[in-house]
Amino acid sequence: MLAKGFLVSALLFGLSVVQAVPAPELSKRQSITALSTSQINSYTPFTWFASAAYCSPSSTLAWNCGANCAANSDFIPVASGGDGTDVQFWYVGYSPSQKSVIVAHQGTDPSSAPPQLVVLNYREADATDANAFLESLDSSLFPGLSSSIEAHSGFANEQAKTATTILSNVQKAISAHGAKQVTLVGHSLGAAISLLDTVYLPLHIKGVSFKFVGYGLPRVGNQDFANYVDANLQVTHINNKEDPIPIVPGRFLGYHHPSGEVHIMDNNQWVSCPGQDNASTECIVGDVPNIFDGDESDHDGPYNGVEMGC
Ligand SMILES: *[C@@H]1O[C@H](CO)[C@@H](O)[C@H](O)[C@H]1NC(C)=O
Repeated sequence: MLAKGFLVSALLFGLSVVQAVPAPELSKRQSITALSTSQINSYTPFTWFASAAYCSPSSTLAWNCGANCAANSDFIPVASGGDGTDVQFWYVGYSPSQKSVIVAHQGTDPSSAPPQLVVLNYREADATDANAFLESLDSSLFPGLSSSIEAHSGFANEQAKTATTILSNVQKAISAHGAKQVTLVGHSLGAAISLLDTVYLPLHIKGVSFKFVGYGLPRVGNQDFANYVDANLQVTHINNKEDPIPIVPGRFLGYHHPSGEVHIMDNNQWVSCPGQDNASTECIVGDVPNIFDGDESDHDGPYNGVEMGC
């Protein structure tokens, strides 16, 4: 395990050198804009929902998981699962105040591992180091998607473990509450799984809208994946300060973020970063050109006062 950690670090070191090369300036049509206090606060319920995914399934099913649950006290759970080892915890339910079904997946326990290894080294057998690769999405889960749309094999494996269970519980929640909106949330690995769910669910459920709010999202797929997400989905991924996780896996390996980055700057201002992997120093790619410029402690937050974890 430790050896693999070093291998990952070596891999990331290689990538950091490549990433230090400045990206070419692209179109100047959109600018980086600061979010207002009310815009920032509008994300906070989803931040608590993402954090609650670290709580045990029995506590999210009873919605008595402490501060994370209390922050969204009107939430009505529908199902919870996972074991926190083979399958990350998850839950599905309905939020009356958000008028939305909520789907949340657990990340990797923030307290247990250094974050630059959390995502790439979180599960030795699956998604780690050189064994992880970009692959087409499984056509039985993702019918009709072009095979040129590729995702990280480890993240895809994790998403596949719960996909059909999530689907049936989301259908259940939609019909029980007449919902028109489904919001998928997660932090770290949990964000990666939820982003794949955000691609997956609309292929099987029509007539509702889907949106994704992720925190500390690593890169999940290739350029065609990012373009598909941009063209079809409503995505916000919030990156805190110098968190190194959003800059891995590296672009030199073919990974690209979709648009929708919100970056929390050192002065605690939140800015919206247009485009994919915006290289401005106000955004994560420019602010953290390699993992050695990253600060692992920023991965868990705080995101407007909320630290991820249960
Ligand atoms: C990054 O943001 C700037 C605004 O400062 C914008 O002009 C540029 O097009 C963006 N880059 C990408 C890759 O979209």
